[in-house]
Amino acid sequence: MRLGVFDSGIGGEAVAAALRITFPQAIIHTLNDRQHVPYGNRSPDEVRTLTENAIEPFLAGAYDVIILACNTATALALEYLRTTYPDQKFIGIEPMIKTAATLTKSDVIAVCATPATLASRRYAALVRRHGAHLSILEPDCSEWAYLIENNQINQSHIKAIVDDMCDKGADVIVLGCTHYHWIKELIEQLANGRATVIEPSEAIGRRVSQLLGA
Ligand code: DGL
Repeated sequence: MRLGVFDSGIGGEAVAAALRITFPQAIIHTLNDRQHVPYGNRSPDEVRTLTENAIEPFLAGAYDVIILACNTATALALEYLRTTYPDQKFIGIEPMIKTAATLTKSDVIAVCATPATLASRRYAALVRRHGAHLSILEPDCSEWAYLIENNQINQSHIKAIVDDMCDKGADVIVLGCTHYHWIKELIEQLANGRATVIEPSEAIGRRVSQLLGA
């Protein structure tokens, strides 16, 4: 099994690390686009073009599935890629609003994601489908991918946002950007039992199994 895992930056490595545990026999390659990261503050057209260009080696490389381990690229490029390359299997990742809806008791959840993801039609449809009855906080995380990419994470900045989400009643925090997987433990510590923090690494593994019968 050959899996190609793409993200604009180091988010893909977090997803690939989880996949390597689930599929120890698989060949798992990662690609990123360090030259253009972060994608999350770019226009939909830019994200689509950059994603298509960046995954070119995967498109040419006979991968069983290409995983867009990037919520932003999924939101803005997945549909286009599936239409343009109908013989290639793709898996995308999206903020886990459906799961959050089943977990929340307060009916207040927080989605941490890039501005481009939050502004996308795909995200709006996801909210309509699974979160219409919820109050959804969307804190400003526009700097996070850059800070994480450059190892400049500022704990007090993250703490202020986590405290604000919890003070407003969020009991589930959805990590809707794979860069944030690297600070999941920090967010959990800062939430300190006030909210459950979820991200889709395990769900991606299950999706790969379904799609490839692996
Ligand atoms: N890791 C990406 C995501 O999941 C985006 C980070 C960025 O390039 O802004 O959305």
